[in-house]
Amino acid sequence: MLERCPPSAPKAAVAEPLLAARGLGYAAGGRVLLQDIGLGVAPGERLMVLGPNGAGKSLLLRLLHGLIAPATGAVLWRGRALDAAARRAQAMVFQQPVLLRRSVRGNLRFALGVRGLGRRAAAERTETLLAEAGLTALASQPARRLSGGEQQRLALARALATDPEVLFLDEPTASLDPTATHRVEEMVRAANTRGVTIVMITHDAGQARRLGTRAVFLDRGRLAEEGPVAALARRR
Ligand SMILES: Nc1ncnc2c1ncn2[C@@H]1O[C@H](COP(=O)(O)OP(=O)(O)O)[C@@H](O)[C@H]1O
Ligand SMILES: [Mg+2]
Repeated sequence: MLERCPPSAPKAAVAEPLLAARGLGYAAGGRVLLQDIGLGVAPGERLMVLGPNGAGKSLLLRLLHGLIAPATGAVLWRGRALDAAARRAQAMVFQQPVLLRRSVRGNLRFALGVRGLGRRAAAERTETLLAEAGLTALASQPARRLSGGEQQRLALARALATDPEVLFLDEPTASLDPTATHRVEEMVRAANTRGVTIVMITHDAGQARRLGTRAVFLDRGRLAEEGPVAALARRR
């Protein structure tokens, strides 16, 4: 079992959190959906977010990424309010990738174009990303015709194209078979080895144990448990 989180207690002694939630709450349609979330994410860690359907995991990730604004509390990036510059240092991958109606390579070139790299540097970076995603042989194919696993690897490569400091993943392997899941996990691990901090939602405790350093468990909008992934109960 992970450790119970007493209400409002400061969570996990993280000396210098890269990202933190303080008293974070969210409400919609007259319902409180997240309440009093306190959380610190240390640079370089791989934090797994677990919890039943509807617990508020996706909402929490969207709040941390600044896609929605909290009702109470705040998200802090290096101790300061999350702003546009901080958001550019983050990237997110969803369960269902949304790819452009272009080639595989075209999707990456487009993502890199936003960064204003020189032509040559962008071309080199594109080929590196293709190789890292194992997509070099498919580079000229229309992205939307790839298999689910290939599409997700492309979505990951695109997210990593902008050199994010934090990568958020919302159940990235939920619709993939074990082989495709394994390849996505390898990419996540490789990105982390290069210094990318990982915050990932998963339904699968086995995946959390394989991939995570630490886990939090959300239940009905509250952070219920927190601890190292080794402490995750087998039943989850
Ligand atoms: N924009 C919204 N308006 C109203 N309710 C929402 C909204 N977004 C999510 N919810 C509700 O909030 C709860 C948590 O949703 P979500 O974060 O997607 O859960 P999880 O990802 O843990 O399955 C669910 O009950 C969902 O129906
Ligand atoms: Mg969700």
